[in-house]
Amino acid sequence: EQIKKGSYDHFMQKEIHEQPHSLTTTMRGRLKDSGVVLGGLKEHLKTLRRSRRVIFIGCGTSYNAALAARPFVEELTGIPVTMEVASDLLDRQGPIYREDTAVFVSQSGETADTLLALEYALEKGALCVGVTNTVGSTLSRKTHCGIHINAGCEIGVASTKAYTSQIVVMAMIALAIGSDQLSTQPRRESIITGLSSLPSTTNWINNLPCHVSEVLKLDAEMKELASSLIDSESLLVFGRGYNYATALEGALKVKEVALMHSEGMLAGEMKHGPLALVDENLPIIVIATRDSCFSKQKSVIQQLLSRKGRLIIMCSEGDISAVGPSASCRVIQVPEVADCLQPVINIIPLQLLAYHLTVLRGFDVDQPRNLAKSVTTQ
Ligand code: AGP
Repeated sequence: EQIKKGSYDHFMQKEIHEQPHSLTTTMRGRLKDSGVVLGGLKEHLKTLRRSRRVIFIGCGTSYNAALAARPFVEELTGIPVTMEVASDLLDRQGPIYREDTAVFVSQSGETADTLLALEYALEKGALCVGVTNTVGSTLSRKTHCGIHINAGCEIGVASTKAYTSQIVVMAMIALAIGSDQLSTQPRRESIITGLSSLPSTTNWINNLPCHVSEVLKLDAEMKELASSLIDSESLLVFGRGYNYATALEGALKVKEVALMHSEGMLAGEMKHGPLALVDENLPIIVIATRDSCFSKQKSVIQQLLSRKGRLIIMCSEGDISAVGPSASCRVIQVPEVADCLQPVINIIPLQLLAYHLTVLRGFDVDQPRNLAKSVTTQ
């Protein structure tokens, strides 16, 4: 087992640090100057483009990855996207139609709820697409078509590298579906350039910097932040827009491995309840990197500060003065990438934070209590 971990103490730590490589393999051979090539979808692209609706279905981290993808899939394809937690879809027996495309996202490809939802969608006649890390899994065998994320084997129960690869695959799917639209061509080109600048070995376009390697350098800073939070009872994470999913996923990581209560919240909902929790003790991470929601997040920060909130602000590099934190705030500065790809960068400091919190609190990193890597029962 130690040989497989290499120089790392835990699989989760190794898998977090592997992301420049896993993202490279996810994109290898698929990203071209002029567009993306996704063999797994080729024969179904026309049907996909004619879909009345895309339904993303998954559980846990895989659901969160799909949620991160939702805004850019809607933007690049013009098709409405709805989100379904697999178990909830089954509980409700929610409506699915022949004109729908159901996209199933699962690292293992063996999650019982997701597979039952797949059977349900197949019965309803929807086009079923799989996004999985596991070649030969039930999900990849039973869907009509799909894309393997090629992130490499993930052993830690907490999913890390699969999450970022899932988002990147869904970005490539959106680019492929939208590739017949002339009006969005400049946007697609800028996303392709952005994708190529994420990991270290795919930046063949214009010699771009490697943003995932850059953000991993925050490791020591996140360890220090973790040491200031070890005794906290709870941690909130506020995000919105592209980074609502980052808030949910960051909080999921903290709760599942560090065994600390943590909630990801939609910042737009702050005034409708969560604001009552704010005091000088409760740590709150606010994601305020640059995108179209930036000014709204600045206002959230001001409202939290006026209630003496204990803030940790995640902002784009060099943006400290623009977000306007007070001297008491901690700031996490991350490299700025194309707005819709920012979730790939922003989750990494939160993965590191969850990892270090777990080690410092003395819990089992790779095998958190009560959890299994793949949930194969309902
Ligand atoms: C991730 O950290 C969790 N362990 C869990 O939420 C997981 O993402 C979920 O069980 C879905 O698994 P899957 O991606 O293999 O379907």
